[in-house]
Amino acid sequence: MDHFLYSGGVLHAEGVAIPEIAAAVGTPFYVYSTATLTRHFTLFTEALSPLPHLVCFAIKSLSNVAVLKTLGDLGAGMDVVSIGEYLRARAAGVPGGRIVFSGVGKTREEIRIALEGGIRQFNVESEPEMRAISEVAVSLGVIAPVAVRVNPDVDARTHAKIATGKSENKFGIPIARAREVYAEAARLPGLEIVGIDVHIGSQLTDLAPFEAAFAKVAELTGALRADGHDIRRLDLGGGLGIPYSRSNEAPPLPVEYGAMVKRRLGHLGCEIEIEPGRLISGNSGILVSKVIYVKNGEGRDFLILDAAMNDLVRPSMYDAHHDIIPVIESAPAAPSQPFDVVGPVCETGDTFAKARELPLLAADDLVAFRSAGAYGAVMASEYNSRPLIPEVLVKGDQFAIIRERPTYEEMIARDKLPPWA
Ligand code: LLP
Repeated sequence: MDHFLYSGGVLHAEGVAIPEIAAAVGTPFYVYSTATLTRHFTLFTEALSPLPHLVCFAIKSLSNVAVLKTLGDLGAGMDVVSIGEYLRARAAGVPGGRIVFSGVGKTREEIRIALEGGIRQFNVESEPEMRAISEVAVSLGVIAPVAVRVNPDVDARTHAKIATGKSENKFGIPIARAREVYAEAARLPGLEIVGIDVHIGSQLTDLAPFEAAFAKVAELTGALRADGHDIRRLDLGGGLGIPYSRSNEAPPLPVEYGAMVKRRLGHLGCEIEIEPGRLISGNSGILVSKVIYVKNGEGRDFLILDAAMNDLVRPSMYDAHHDIIPVIESAPAAPSQPFDVVGPVCETGDTFAKARELPLLAADDLVAFRSAGAYGAVMASEYNSRPLIPEVLVKGDQFAIIRERPTYEEMIARDKLPPWA
């Protein structure tokens, strides 16, 4: 459920009409709903209660500081995978004690900044990284709290580019070797073991792979405790999928996920951490774009938009589906036709949808891509020298620009001529 609905035949973000925002900021732009972000975060905290838990929003899915502040003020923790994300969380006022640091390649410099600034835990991805964290901690005279990310070798049954829990993936330490790695961690002078971490993939539409992974984590918890380790937190990663197509998808709900977590892990007495990104941010945002031209091609018509693959790369990168809807609601019986929906970028991959049945749209009409809050703005680039597009946050009947569209001059001024030119 989200807060992008038609009212009086016009698409609104909460109480604000989309054409009003378009008139103020120009197209294309992203717009996020505070009420939807809040609702999705709350669904997770309710689903995990009464277990002690911390919902750490995966910043990688949507990293605007205004969004992080919105969630942080509700008590959310943050899952970061770079020091850039860590500093965004801190800029949003989230204390280090609520930030977990994941990611396969943390540099010593990143580790140092996180240790100096305060961190809840490092999710360790390899033995060399574990040793580096210990060394940096010793050099600073502090102890680094760590969980080891184990790779449970389960098939997440999602898109190959976003599955992470199989042994062939680059993530984590094989669960079969976990005991020896924890034994080394316990010997390293700069580390304190606080728990176990697992994340098997993203956009999972079935609970079974989670359940298989969590059963292995429960078993490992017992084994590590028997070895004398203080396993008090279980970080279960993110990955719960969302319905991208309203018509035919019904992934499990947070409440069902929470019930399964309690069933599998509730008896262990651990604090549960989760790292959802997409389920909180995905349906909290839309991308609004304008039709530039309708081009009649051979046997097909193209809807050429002012948004392109550089603004929303998911369709070209993962063949992802996003529902596309007109901002001015069409009558139920209004005629429609199939369109190839494309952007202006000079490659065929810049295609959002093929033969998508849409109302008879014309130049200057506005359309919205639904479910674009997660992995939309954060994956944007300036390909074809198209400046990054603005982000807008709505709350009730108010809206605010939370990232400005740079001018062409600003974009170009970042390039510097060498002294010999
Ligand atoms: N924790 C870790 C360690 C992760 O690697 C990820 C996502 C998450 C949490 C959050 O997963 P979520 O709840 O959002 O599924 N760009 C791709 C998705 C990449 C996901 C990477 N890792 C896409 O657009 O579908």
